[in-house]
Amino acid sequence: MPRLEPATASARHTAPPPGLISLADHEAHARSVLDPATWAYINGGAGDGFTLRANRDAWDAVALHPRVLAPLAGLETRTTLLGKACPSPILVAPMARHGLAHPDGELATALAASALGAGFVLGTQSGRPLEEVAKAFAPGGERGPLWFQLYGFGDRDGMRELVARASAAGYEAVMLTVDAPVQGVRDDERRAGFAPPPGLPMPHLPPQAAAGLADLLARAPTWDDVAWLLAHSPLPVLLKGITHPDDARLAVELGVAGLVVSNHGGRVLDTMPATATLLPAVASAVAGRCAVLVDGGVRRGTDIVKAIALGADAVLVGRPILHGLANAGAAGAAHVLRLLGDEFSAAMALCGRRRVADLRDPALVGRPAP
Ligand code: GLV
Repeated sequence: MPRLEPATASARHTAPPPGLISLADHEAHARSVLDPATWAYINGGAGDGFTLRANRDAWDAVALHPRVLAPLAGLETRTTLLGKACPSPILVAPMARHGLAHPDGELATALAASALGAGFVLGTQSGRPLEEVAKAFAPGGERGPLWFQLYGFGDRDGMRELVARASAAGYEAVMLTVDAPVQGVRDDERRAGFAPPPGLPMPHLPPQAAAGLADLLARAPTWDDVAWLLAHSPLPVLLKGITHPDDARLAVELGVAGLVVSNHGGRVLDTMPATATLLPAVASAVAGRCAVLVDGGVRRGTDIVKAIALGADAVLVGRPILHGLANAGAAGAAHVLRLLGDEFSAAMALCGRRRVADLRDPALVGRPAP
């Protein structure tokens, strides 16, 4: 598979190209700088892409009902997640192989997130060791949460070791992905002929042995694995990929610290509903007993307002971060986070809400009272 030429990459290293004023602009530009197979891997969805498109469309379909003339002085995006104060309810979603977008990979993304006060969830499939990434997520200053994502493929010793390493390196929680026991049917990737570049390391995974479907199914994580992780993890545990209220209740009863309402960005089971549609029922089942996050199609500050009004405590943003990274390394990822953060503050003001807690109001996204 073609890789970025180093010269091209360094030319895209320092500042975002002029004229990019929205996440959609970053996406269009990233498409022009990445090779088609990498683009298909980063931006593609499963099957016919129904869920991928639905995620985006569902945020657009939620209407906002603002109030006017409310006092706005001192508006702030600060909030609390897992009991800790953080500068904003925006986190970088766990994603594989940032090095496909830019040679600085996860180090650049972590730097961007910490500089912009966003949280960062490092994926197991990172190209950089979690300890290095933690150092790049600048200590000092007011920064967002730093969490580590895990897959639970039957290897409890491996999981225990990764969690211990994450804890020692300063990660504050682990997030187990539960919606991908097998890979989705990725038509876009297959059509484009994507294959992971052999030169890109995966320091948290054992050398890949080709696994057949029966192997994968035998190793697929179950609720027993969640209970085991909760019993052995020194860090709080979140589950990513919860979409059914009954699964949410089970997770809460087991003692998770949080859930992510996610369909894996439309990359696993095509024709699942959009996350904006699934969120209210999950939030209602959770009833404040653990944190609720949501991802999938978040591209505008108004989407974040809607997510919180529909029951989320915070949002995860995935592909746009890789677009920014492809466009200008750490500066590009930081620019994406800045655009989104500025839009979020403006949306709060325009909705007449001065605090994140004031956004937790179904009336903001429902029919206004007569
Ligand atoms: C990995 O989780 C992916 O969706 O590619």
